[in-house]
Amino acid sequence: MVQAKPHPAAATEQLHSISPSESEQVIQFQHSEQYRTSEWYTGDGQITASGDNRSFTVSATYTLKAEVKLVKGVFERSNPTLAQVYSRRRRCVAIVDQTVAELYGEALHGYFQHYEIPLELLICRAWEIDKTPETVHRLLKFLGKDGCDVSRNEPVLVVGGGVLSDVAGLACALHHRRTPYIMVGTTVVAAIDAGPSPRTCTNGTQFKNSLGVYHPPVLTLVDRTFFRTLATGHVRNGMAEMIKMAITDDAVLFEQLEHHGERLLETHFATLSEDVDLAQIADEVIYRALFSYMKHEGTNMFETYQDRPHAYGHTWSPRFEPAAKLLHGHAVTIGMAFGASLAVEMGWLQPADRDRIVALCQRLGLSVYHPILEDINLMLEGQKNMQRKRGDGGLWAPLPTGIGRCDYAHDVSPTLLQAAIDSHRQFCSTLPNQGQGQEMYLRDLGLE
Ligand SMILES: NC(=O)c1ccc[n+]([C@@H]2O[C@H](COP(=O)([O-])OP(=O)(O)OC[C@H]3O[C@@H](n4cnc5c(N)ncnc54)[C@H](O)[C@@H]3O)[C@@H](O)[C@H]2O)c1
Repeated sequence: MVQAKPHPAAATEQLHSISPSESEQVIQFQHSEQYRTSEWYTGDGQITASGDNRSFTVSATYTLKAEVKLVKGVFERSNPTLAQVYSRRRRCVAIVDQTVAELYGEALHGYFQHYEIPLELLICRAWEIDKTPETVHRLLKFLGKDGCDVSRNEPVLVVGGGVLSDVAGLACALHHRRTPYIMVGTTVVAAIDAGPSPRTCTNGTQFKNSLGVYHPPVLTLVDRTFFRTLATGHVRNGMAEMIKMAITDDAVLFEQLEHHGERLLETHFATLSEDVDLAQIADEVIYRALFSYMKHEGTNMFETYQDRPHAYGHTWSPRFEPAAKLLHGHAVTIGMAFGASLAVEMGWLQPADRDRIVALCQRLGLSVYHPILEDINLMLEGQKNMQRKRGDGGLWAPLPTGIGRCDYAHDVSPTLLQAAIDSHRQFCSTLPNQGQGQEMYLRDLGLE
């Protein structure tokens, strides 16, 4: 007689405890590795039965593994990073920004041909005006049954700037409810901020970025050689987000930007120069900015916790940025400089540190003032919107308390806000060009 093998348990159950009442049962449920199908996503949980056979509660935890890597020449044949991911899947499904496809399409095709990996490509125009649910639908069609029929564990390759990472990340989140993607950010913003970010989104009818889900790429490849072809205004724009990370979290990064920021801007992060030392500094600056960002944002998956240094410069600006048609980076630096004046007004920051913050932004041609700040009703409205967005518990505006550190203002009264606006206006009236930067409007870079 052949004895049947015992069926492997689908999951291990552990009766954890009986508490607090005698009848309550807590069961820890751990799924068996043998049935696991995703390289990146795992989960387990706990189920607590009340014991009356009428109700129970479930709490589940999951892990998302997200790797971020600096690489050089991602489409160079000598670089096996992407081939290692896609050759065993026998194809690569990719969504690529239209401008990037024009500039790097040949290299992209050449790379996959070299490794004999079929490439299924969608070229997507990804301007700010394309950040719509319609674009997300188009991407979903490409990923779905009518298109490439991407399986739920097949990582989609996304190559482009922050607009594409937001909409394509969202499409991946919706396809099969969660499909992994690999992000190659080709702008400074996408490389150090939007690209690895867990926040994917599209614009809603009234608010920017209002529809979305938390879905970080499983792998972010940061290759600064793409910055070579960027407009200098876009490089400057991305540096605003780096300054934000430096002020609130990393004093060393701040000093590096003080010393090397202008050269990094001029040379598009050492891609327009042969200077080997500068190339090393460029990598170091990018790494520090990324690490700081992901330390706080990558581990705070649902933005449940509002101790978020990287929201600095983003409290009032979402209201005044579209109203003044500012480029995002300039709106952020205006918000940061204003926040520094507010912090001085509150006694949190020494005036000398505010001056350093403003001087760094100005040296890189970033704005620190716009007269729209004087519209107190708009500023109060922005504050109210932000309070709702951050969860109604408070404003939680990150404000610097020194270089490389910050704290969070729970409330900012209308009187305090007005006093900070007045003192910031007065301070900026003495600055060259009253604190306005270079190419500060959307139309300057053709993004309107
Ligand atoms: N999800 C987040 O956490 C997060 C964070 C920051 C910003 N964002 C979003 O990112 C967007 C801005 O991103 P962005 O600044 O990358 O802009 P973008 O994606 O619009 O790219 C800017 C322009 O550069 C072009 N481009 C891209 N790579 C290029 C290259 N290597 N060479 C030449 N041209 C290139 C693009 O086609 C585009 O015209 C905004 O919509 C913003 O809301 C999201």
